[in-house]
Amino acid sequence: MALITKKPRGTEDVLPRDSYRWQFLEQLFRDEARAFGYRELRTPVFEHTNLFERGVGDTTDIVQKEMYTFLTKGGDSITLRPEGTAGACRAFLEHGLHNDPLPIKAYYLTSCYRYEKPQAGRLREFHQFGMECYGTQNPAADAELITAAANIFDRLGLKNISLEINSIGCPKCRADYHKALIAYYTRYRDSLCEDCQSRLERNPMRLLDCKVPHDHEIALNAPMMPDYLCDECKEHFDGVKAYLDANGVTYTVNPTIVRGLDYYTKTVFEFLSGDIGAQSAVCAGGRYDGLIEELGGNPMPALGFAAGIERLLLTMDAQGITIPAPSPCDIYIASMGEEAHKKASDLCNLLRRTGLYAEFDVVGRGLKAQMKYANKIGARFSMVLGDDEIANGIAKLKNMDSGEQRDLPLDGEAFIKEFTAAKLEADFNTNP
Ligand code: HAM
Repeated sequence: MALITKKPRGTEDVLPRDSYRWQFLEQLFRDEARAFGYRELRTPVFEHTNLFERGVGDTTDIVQKEMYTFLTKGGDSITLRPEGTAGACRAFLEHGLHNDPLPIKAYYLTSCYRYEKPQAGRLREFHQFGMECYGTQNPAADAELITAAANIFDRLGLKNISLEINSIGCPKCRADYHKALIAYYTRYRDSLCEDCQSRLERNPMRLLDCKVPHDHEIALNAPMMPDYLCDECKEHFDGVKAYLDANGVTYTVNPTIVRGLDYYTKTVFEFLSGDIGAQSAVCAGGRYDGLIEELGGNPMPALGFAAGIERLLLTMDAQGITIPAPSPCDIYIASMGEEAHKKASDLCNLLRRTGLYAEFDVVGRGLKAQMKYANKIGARFSMVLGDDEIANGIAKLKNMDSGEQRDLPLDGEAFIKEFTAAKLEADFNTNP
């Protein structure tokens, strides 16, 4: 039996000492989403399996091989979400969001589950920040969305991230393209890998995505979608590029980007990191104008992206980008004796109510060990309370950095006022 002290393969813990890195990224995502008018959407971690079969597409690797699907005690087939888009669309339809002023803009921060072979940057439980926009066909919206992602990477100070874009057209022009692809690939059918032989039957565009060297070489000379775009799709793609240029976002057009999910139409894109090895896509997305209708709604154009948080953190590590550490403990109030312990507890709680981070001894340590602990947690100030301090109603506040000391009254309101003043003074001296 698996050890209960070992996490399942392909999952990761975020420990208390590291969680500030996640919180920093999450706050940056939220700020960026707000600046673009996106509000948070939260959907369940599991959905009915057929949502993903219909939404993501039953010929995709995700649906064919990677879903965590199980039967409930009631006999329903349920799947842990492998991505955020299908659930967002389901919620959009279920709550009639098309009645809200368009475009509807929603973002999410979620865990996703795919039964993939774990490797660096590829997990079975991973986390996405995603943005989805409903109700516009305008290419300015595609460029706006891509710009939002680009801004995030800029704000994080990431370098060596390239943006690749493509248009995979609409069902109309794609039909001709599929014919051309099938004609081209049929000549090589017997030499293709097993997956590609099945793709040729079921999902020919995915042939371009094959990583097997022999098949990849064949893909290089295959017909490319941009040559088959209908006038409307071509005009749309030109519009996206023009708006990206206007926004100062650098990109390259890569006609082999087809994406691994079935719902895309027209614009598709990927942001690739040059520093994290094979699993280099840190963010990907595109337009999916047919998905809402596919799931039973009235036609509703839509587009979105999702960024992988773990891969962003890996990229930041590889580039030596550090995240500001959380502010340390403001004050440690050491104490000796019953009355002093109670006073320390009371003063800490008063401070905490004003939003400060205060600690006292809840372990039962001696005074020396308490001060050692105060040093370890990087307390900026300390104070020692004993019988004398309680009797006099005054204690010495010590600035742990400069060693400077001053008397502080222990009476609640005066204490808070004078401590806050001492802290402000120290803040000013460290950061004038
Ligand atoms: P996706 O390309 O499957 O697209 O995933 C988006 C991002 O999630 C990837 O670029 C990568 O950073 C991260 N990711 C995917 N799989 C893993 C994994 N196994 N381990 C770690 N990170 C991973 C989607 O999920 C679409 N729903 C994106 C979208 C939103 N399109 C339109 N709206």
